[in-house]
Amino acid sequence: APAPAGLLEDRLLPLLRAVPDHPVPGVTFRDITPLLGDAGALRAAVEGMAAALPAGTEYVAGVEARGFVLGAAVAVAAGAGFVPVRKAGRLPREVLAEEYALEYGTATVELHADALPAGARVVVCDDVLATGGTADAACRLVERAGGEVASVAFLLELAALPGRARLEEHGRDVRSLLR
Ligand code: PRP
Ligand code: HPA
Repeated sequence: APAPAGLLEDRLLPLLRAVPDHPVPGVTFRDITPLLGDAGALRAAVEGMAAALPAGTEYVAGVEARGFVLGAAVAVAAGAGFVPVRKAGRLPREVLAEEYALEYGTATVELHADALPAGARVVVCDDVLATGGTADAACRLVERAGGEVASVAFLLELAALPGRARLEEHGRDVRSLLR
């Protein structure tokens, strides 16, 4: 059975590092790599995220790059397939594209146009929810590709930023393991 959320936070939050002024002045970047490097913490994080997926999840759509690391592991743990949402220009076949504003800069994400069967139940997965722009764009891609966004799953929600509110305004079911 998954550990209660408070115990997971006690164990996993100390493995995150706050990096001032990265990648630009004024942003405090939350570095998850110490957590990823700790075998037990990585397993607890992946299993915790997988346990929070809605029943019937068929695909996990992970956002490049850190959403690949967690998303593929969560997909395996949950018995779902993995679909990559990539930064512009990387996917080799016909793509759908969505632009978004990031906490620092702007970017475009893409999804293979035929990545999903019609009506597929998809969870969009990423490491960190900040402004929500990336996940919002990934959800639009899933829907344009014919999928249904069952929920949006994060390792870490930066609660001081309006990411959750933005996603919920758009009807998304937001699930984060750590806050
Ligand atoms: C980070 C993070 C999320 C996004 C969160 O990715 O991994 O994808 O930003 O920010 P938002 O909620 O404000 O959109 P980044 O674009 O830095 O790319 P990376 O994973 O390739 O490092
Ligand atoms: N940490 C990691 N990823 C991020 C952050 C952060 O603080 N902000 C936006 N993406």
